Amino acid sequence: MLPKWFNTWNRDNPTNIYGPAILVGAAGLAVTVAAFVVVVGQPYATDSLQTGPRGTGMSVPEFESDLSEADPTIAGYLTRAQISDDAIASISDEALQNVPPGLGDISDEQYAELVVAMRAWTGIPDLMEDPDNYQTQIAYTMVGMTQSVNENWIGHVQSNAEVGVTCYTCHRGQPVPSEIWFRLGPVNEAAEGWAAVQNRVTTQSQYTSLPSDALEEYLLNYGQIGVHDLESHVAEYPSEGIQTWQDAERTYSLMNYVSNSLGVNCVFCHNSRAFYDPAQVTPQWATEMLGISMVQEINNDWLVPLEGLYPPERLGPVFADAPKAACKTCHKGYQQPLQGLNVIGEWPELALVESD
Ligand code: HEC
Ligand code: HEC
Ligand code: HEC
Repeated sequence: MLPKWFNTWNRDNPTNIYGPAILVGAAGLAVTVAAFVVVVGQPYATDSLQTGPRGTGMSVPEFESDLSEADPTIAGYLTRAQISDDAIASISDEALQNVPPGLGDISDEQYAELVVAMRAWTGIPDLMEDPDNYQTQIAYTMVGMTQSVNENWIGHVQSNAEVGVTCYTCHRGQPVPSEIWFRLGPVNEAAEGWAAVQNRVTTQSQYTSLPSDALEEYLLNYGQIGVHDLESHVAEYPSEGIQTWQDAERTYSLMNYVSNSLGVNCVFCHNSRAFYDPAQVTPQWATEMLGISMVQEINNDWLVPLEGLYPPERLGPVFADAPKAACKTCHKGYQQPLQGLNVIGEWPELALVESD
């Protein structure tokens, strides 16, 4: 079907095409092999979690090299089975007499096991030994707080499976848990009003120029997080009680904190075309909603009232306020604390508030 002139030209100019063909073939094979190695064999392959309909960009990419690395603190978790008879025998009678309120019903042996575990989880070797010691007194409240979180916030701490929390979820073997926070107040003394709460790199602004008071405003003071609606408010601005773009910055500050606390991005919970719409969210959005109320309760009902018990060096640097908790105090950068390890199954005494 080729034109006549081409056949004539071809006959008059014979060329050996096999040499170049082999060359092109070899080069093609090399490219294919290289592409295969890059795609299948390279160490930085990513995995992604689909959180919404395909094509809407609702997926959270993660490096597989991160995924295969277990949270290193999981190995340090003391289980009930690991507690030896020697360890139980080493608990003194004084400590055994010193039972926090809320644990009255358990046997001596069960309580001795719990004391061994609480000492390991908090890294305090003489916890519960002396009833007048401030750490022991704080531990009374901590037991009640842990029971309350496990019993009253099942929708959060068992949102997927039996997981729950124990002292180790926050403490990880340390008397002072990591990722606690204090009130900061104005962080920029050169400015007044709104400008004074932002533009300063702090851990609470997640090292951004966003406001540093988001945790205080939302996880202590019950501030309104939602800022968006579909009406025009041009005529009303600026006025009291109207959410402004400044409030939106604080909301973003909180959302940044939340994302970093869990090691996820925004579409883990939202459809990014409609951040405001609770009808276009993932189940994790609702888990966070419960988490916000739970953290407000942990701070206001349990941690803030402990203020008078701490030695001064444990209090906040600006307002001498009690240390507080938030999402990262439990999650430590993981989607689920301790990567979903069930910590409550074998410690029912920490799961139930005594009914009396
Ligand atoms: C007292 C410890 C604690 C605190 C504080 C806490 N969480 Fe959680 N959270 C948990 C536990 C435990 C789970 C695991 C539940 C499960 O997998 O069944 C969890 C699960 C979640 C999940 C579900 C993850 C998934 O894979 O489905 C989300 C989302 C979440 N938390 C968000 C938050 C946010 C946001 C905050 C702060 C406002 C917060 N959490 C504060 C303990 C905590
Ligand atoms: C939701 C997180 C959380 C859980 C769960 C938790 N704690 Fe705490 N705990 C804290 C925070 C925050 C502090 C204040 C840190 C400080 O003392 O500076 C604290 C402080 C303490 C202190 C005082 C430490 C010191 O030297 O100042 C003791 C003791 C303690 N906790 C024991 C326990 C025990 C025992 C449990 C389990 C029954 C427990 N905690 C569970 C968050 C938690
Ligand atoms: C773990 C789930 C979760 C993650 C991750 C998350 N959000 Fe949110 N977001 C929520 C929840 C829950 C609310 C509603 C809070 C409320 O109204 O009390 C919310 C509210 C908002 C709002 C306010 C919506 C309104 O009605 O005005 C904005 C804006 C927002 N998020 C943006 C973001 C951005 C940006 C990111 C990523 C940096 C992000 N969120 C990450 C759960 C999440």
